[in-house]
Amino acid sequence: MSETQNDILVHTEAGVTTITFNRVDKKNSLTRAMYAALADTFEAAAQGTEVRVVVLQGDLAIFSAGNDIGDFLQQPPASQDSPVFRFLRAIATFPKPVVAAVCGPAVGIGTTMLLHCDLVYAGDNAAFSMPFVNLGLCPEAASSLLVPQMLGYHRAAEALLLGEPFLAEAALEVGLVNRVVPPTECNAVAQAQAKKLAAKPLSALVETKRLLKKGQTATVLERMAEEGESFGRMLREPAAREAFTAFMEKRRPDFSNC
Ligand code: COA
Repeated sequence: MSETQNDILVHTEAGVTTITFNRVDKKNSLTRAMYAALADTFEAAAQGTEVRVVVLQGDLAIFSAGNDIGDFLQQPPASQDSPVFRFLRAIATFPKPVVAAVCGPAVGIGTTMLLHCDLVYAGDNAAFSMPFVNLGLCPEAASSLLVPQMLGYHRAAEALLLGEPFLAEAALEVGLVNRVVPPTECNAVAQAQAKKLAAKPLSALVETKRLLKKGQTATVLERMAEEGESFGRMLREPAAREAFTAFMEKRRPDFSNC
């Protein structure tokens, strides 16, 4: 089965659904329509036994530049039912394994979605960043909870307060990625691992993932909802509007009045 949903390509073969971000001219930034397609794909893949594993991948030079800034400026998510939040809940509660192949920049949600993947393989050109503060925003995807858990508080503060990028080797050291490989091998490594997972008994995979996450899912969803409230409000405030307008106008933001 093969289908194209806007700028998201979805291909299912031998139990593995591969989702490819396919909006390279805009650095795979994610629009409302793309979030809706992602949410629909995860929700459908959670059902039944045809899909056993999901793989997320981008381009060899860019994983994702995060939220589409023009989209956020024009139609910021109005409620928890907005496509972006629906996608985040779908990936955070997805019962089967998710494998990611990350090459090039992974900005904002491009990094935070990885916190909800089970295996992450990175090209040595990968660069991870969560520049929410620089955009007048706060963390999303429960990253305010999961990043300090993974990196420790001080490194999390550097990543989330300063929004400084970190490279593949640093991501490997803190455990955000499993292995760093040449970019040209990254998708193949992710596919090989997905294929191994797809050959295992699905019921055992699902039960093991449930137990690995036990005690955490409710807290993650609660944090995600709280972040979502703040994120939605802050998107409409002067700092974010200045940051987004400056990006669209290709100039430095001026936060002197924010
Ligand atoms: N939303 C909308 N458009 C975006 C985008 C985004 N998040 N990121 C990149 N683009 C667009 C640019 O506007 C540009 O469009 P144009 O060709 O019509 O002018 C095109 O993609 C190429 O981007 P450019 O910045 O020239 O590429 P680059 O290789 O120099 O830099 C990035 C790549 C990812 C480092 C840079 O684009 C970037 O920092 N993007 C914004 C990331 C961000 O802040 N995301 C939001 C997180 S919440």
